[in-house]
Amino acid sequence: MEKRFKRTTVTSALPYANGPVHIGHLAGVYIPADIYVRYLRLKKEDVLFIGGSDEHGVPITIRARKEGVTPQDVVDRYHALIKRSFEEFGISFDIYSRTTSPIHHRLAADFFRKLYDKGEFIEKTSMQYYDEEAGQFLADRYITGECPYCHAEGAYGDQCEKCGSSLSPTELINPKSAISGSQPVMRETKHWYLPLDKHEPWLRRWILEEHKEWRPNVYGQCKSWLDMGLQPRAVSRDLDWGIPVPVEGAEGKVLYVWFDAPIGYISNTKELLPDDWEKWWKDPETRLVHFIGKDNIVFHCIVFPAMLKAEGSYILPDNVPANEFLNLEGDKLSTSHNWAIWLHEYLQDFPGKQDVLRYVLTANAPETKDNDFTWKDFQARNNNELVAVYGNFVNRALQLTKKYFDGTVPQMGELTEYDRGILQEFAGVKGEVEKLLDLFKFRDAQKEAMNLARIGNKYLADTEPWKLAKTDMGRVATILNISLQLVANLAIAFEPFLPFSSGKLRGMLKIEKLSWDSLGRTDLLPAGHRLGEPALLFEKIADETIQAQLDKLLATKKANEAASYKAKPVKPTVTAETFSQIDIRVGTVLECAPVPKMKKLLAFKIADGLENRTIVSGIAQHYKPEELVGKQVLFIANLAPRQFKNGLVSEGMILSAEDVDGTVAVTSLLGQVKPGSEVK
Ligand code: MF3
Ligand code: ZN
Repeated sequence: MEKRFKRTTVTSALPYANGPVHIGHLAGVYIPADIYVRYLRLKKEDVLFIGGSDEHGVPITIRARKEGVTPQDVVDRYHALIKRSFEEFGISFDIYSRTTSPIHHRLAADFFRKLYDKGEFIEKTSMQYYDEEAGQFLADRYITGECPYCHAEGAYGDQCEKCGSSLSPTELINPKSAISGSQPVMRETKHWYLPLDKHEPWLRRWILEEHKEWRPNVYGQCKSWLDMGLQPRAVSRDLDWGIPVPVEGAEGKVLYVWFDAPIGYISNTKELLPDDWEKWWKDPETRLVHFIGKDNIVFHCIVFPAMLKAEGSYILPDNVPANEFLNLEGDKLSTSHNWAIWLHEYLQDFPGKQDVLRYVLTANAPETKDNDFTWKDFQARNNNELVAVYGNFVNRALQLTKKYFDGTVPQMGELTEYDRGILQEFAGVKGEVEKLLDLFKFRDAQKEAMNLARIGNKYLADTEPWKLAKTDMGRVATILNISLQLVANLAIAFEPFLPFSSGKLRGMLKIEKLSWDSLGRTDLLPAGHRLGEPALLFEKIADETIQAQLDKLLATKKANEAASYKAKPVKPTVTAETFSQIDIRVGTVLECAPVPKMKKLLAFKIADGLENRTIVSGIAQHYKPEELVGKQVLFIANLAPRQFKNGLVSEGMILSAEDVDGTVAVTSLLGQVKPGSEVK
């Protein structure tokens, strides 16, 4: 039986305050959470929407070090930027606070202390890399070296970004401290661990048996973690940025960021409601829902619940609707590679178009699998759905009312069979949208809301009131009344999804915000009610605008390629003397021809200012013979001759450069010189 709840606490993952937020954050976490919360509020349910920035962790310290500022400077900057972006996109948090707040530091430390006092941790010592020059232990990210798998330089102690392998710092070849550059040494350190293995039995029951309704991606990931067997997890770190571990003998140690951050949900609730926060976290009649991305599943479904259970006085989440990832034009979103659409930049380029992005991101929400954002799709959904369906219907209904009834809602007359059919069709939409929202199926729910506009468009197209205006004004009045009721319903149905447009629409209709209960009613606008001025809800987005965005991404891609390319290390030094032994000369290509049966080879006759010579070169895949005839090339004149199987002898070597992808470019000169000229 469905459990009845008195109230709902909704949390959305606390983003790291070490960069701005992008469309992936919005699509994966904040828009679905916001839709859900707005929906519950419209239903007049008791709901709290908690957000905030996650301001601890190693990456923040790395960024600070790189920029030569303090970690606090970094989080101050990004917390402000992120908070503003969320406000601008209408993410309607009841509170958006931060994990550097004093309330949070206190609560997280108390939480740790309580678990410590209850004996819920185990203490373990282990060997870890220590930087003797900097005088500190090194987080995995602070150690770089050669990848043991692909042998790329600059792999991190937790991961090689070149080949993607997960690493542990001890696997790195020639490890180096990213702080001082020195070679780290192993040193013993003590940490506190949450013995997840001890919690496994109840976690298995609670998730695998009692929460079969969780999304398949969430349930599946939990199952595979549980089936692998849970291990104790360290909840402290040797770091100087974070919440100090509140026990004796823990100098220089802080709470692991994933221990303190989820407690941030609770601290932020406490900050908002200092006297009344506990019922939102401790009353069994409160439903707790965590909105997150898929990389956070284990923390919200296993680790945090184990912490809450160990503490003893908290409720557990009722659902964790995690999304998969959103890609951008086929590639993984990446903050470090600037492969993203940043929310603050989007608003510079598309001022006032928050709802367009909200709409597109929900329409493509990665609810069941990773999904792709493309600018073409963005344009198509705007032009073909928001403009052509929703906007068009609203505009026609309002313009016709203005034209025939001077902007006043006309009287509804006798309904035809057809009218009744339409009204019935549309009455079903409410239940459908509701059912889908209750199941966290936001894409489908939004599609249903859009169906309402489709019904409206079809109604106007079928009844053609503009043709009836001369003969049957009574009928026109009925048609427009029904249409306007539909428009008012659209303002409600889209309120959770497109709050800005609903607000604008309410302004045009001159109505207050209506509750969810009113959805489906056909008496929302009484006859005689005066409407406001109609204005366009959405506008077309032109090809040039989209092209400009694509060009911007292309430029990023080029810059990334150039930045990430790493040339081979330089060979050992040679003396000028040694170099001068190599005789490099300029030659003019007299003839160039393929070599029978040897696909890769071209045979050159080179004018060298002496007796001319034959050089064979393996570049047939890169040049057509005729492209090279007459060109001046560089060749090594004193290389020992080389004989091929078919008897052909190559007297030297033409110099060329090989690109990373294997394409070859023959060297050439910027000026003309006589054949045989020396290169030095
Ligand atoms: N900062 C984390 C991330 O971006 C999410 C933290 S969620 C919380 O992946 F529960 F820990 F707050
Ligand atoms: Zn590698």
